[in-house]
Amino acid sequence: MRRKFVAGNWKMHGTLQNNALLIDALKVSVAGLACEVAICPPYPYLAQAAALLGSSGIQLGAQNLSEFVSGAYTGEVSAPMLGEFGCRYVLVGHSERRAIYGESDSVVVAKFAAAQAGGLVPVLCVGESLEERQAGKTSEVVSRQLAAVIDRLGVSVLTKSVIAYEPVWAIGTGVTASAGQAQEVHQAIRSQVAALDPVVANGVRVLYGGSVKPQNAKELFGQPDIDGGLIGGAALVAGDFLAICRAAG
Ligand code: PGA
Repeated sequence: MRRKFVAGNWKMHGTLQNNALLIDALKVSVAGLACEVAICPPYPYLAQAAALLGSSGIQLGAQNLSEFVSGAYTGEVSAPMLGEFGCRYVLVGHSERRAIYGESDSVVVAKFAAAQAGGLVPVLCVGESLEERQAGKTSEVVSRQLAAVIDRLGVSVLTKSVIAYEPVWAIGTGVTASAGQAQEVHQAIRSQVAALDPVVANGVRVLYGGSVKPQNAKELFGQPDIDGGLIGGAALVAGDFLAICRAAG
């Protein structure tokens, strides 16, 4: 049985004061939920978040990492550094990293490998743009992004990872994929893995991301291949994020 998982991607939002309010609100209400919960604040707030989260059971994640371990890479942050600050998870290949910072599939694969080498669990983000969906290329794009990791690192690396399907057209737009649209892609992702290793496919959690809200979370999370969500905007509002976590169990 895959345990449901809800992760909040704060993106470039937060202040010391707001973070403290948000984390305090989450801490009191998340205890007792069956699903796993994580938050991914910006790098400078990881230490604050780790201290405030304490033994609350809420996991900490980062939004990005360097593909390198250390060295002359100005502005970069490595997996071992994130580990020192209590991170368990790290997003790799978020569509904003791919689109705005030009991260190619091969960079994403290198970051995925660096995360695992540093003891972190990568959350591999995949998803098609609106143009790609309209051109009927959704499954081609998503399977290419996933195959980039599998072909280079082998299917078994997915055992210690999470996959997040995030259609780019649904991110931050208020437009959510319907539960049926999302399930179709999630099933295709799982089938792609199952063709290589059914045990890995059965165990890997595939999250949905893109305008998840309290109103649509339950239907999305009720789909057989949707194991939770990667939440952007709604993760910044304690009541909304908690309602989404409750929808996941
Ligand atoms: P959103 O973002 O929930 O604001 O659409 C999701 C994401 O980018 O991970």
